[in-house]
Amino acid sequence: MAVMHAAFDPFYGEAWSAAQLGATLAMPGCWGRMALIGGAAAGFTLCRAAGPEVELLLIAVNTQQRRQGIGQRLLLRAQEDALARKASLLFLEVREDNHAARRLYERAGFLQVGRRPDYYSVKDGSRRAAITMRSDLEKMSG
Ligand SMILES: CC(C)(COP(=O)(O)OP(=O)(O)OC[C@H]1O[C@@H](n2cnc3c(N)ncnc32)[C@H](O)[C@@H]1OP(=O)(O)O)[C@@H](O)C(=O)NCCC(=O)NCCS
Repeated sequence: MAVMHAAFDPFYGEAWSAAQLGATLAMPGCWGRMALIGGAAAGFTLCRAAGPEVELLLIAVNTQQRRQGIGQRLLLRAQEDALARKASLLFLEVREDNHAARRLYERAGFLQVGRRPDYYSVKDGSRRAAITMRSDLEKMSG
């Protein structure tokens, strides 16, 4: 939760509460991964499996520890976890103007497969589109 609070800009209201996180982690087919540096949490992911598909629900890295490859490694691990669970596709939704995350996903081989207008509401009352992206895990595993 420390990373959750540090990583997400409150303007977008994307951070989950401890109750939401706990409830999700308690559901079958959901799991999280933490990146630890010197024993302290630097980042995390949260995933949910549904049949042959896995959804990346959250990925976050502490602000002061960004651009060191932690997000990339967490994402690769999520792809590997999904493959290990025999999933063939990994999906995610990202705010259209979240350029850092979109670049991270594109570099990891995710392709845009959809756009959902007005999907997110932000603190000033405006709305932002979501971009749906997909990673084809079978291609990834060669
Ligand atoms: C998105 C996020 C997880 C990336 O974590 P990170 O550890 O900084 O990412 P990495 O260092 O592994 O970056 C890998 C690549 O992604 C791209 N990237 C990451 N941050 C970027 C930025 N701010 N601007 C442009 N490209 C960026 C780059 O291509 C980068 O490679 P490079 O550093 O060699 O150029 C982090 O910015 C974050 O926590 N953001 C807030 C939470 C969030 O929006 N999560 C996504 C929605 S749940």
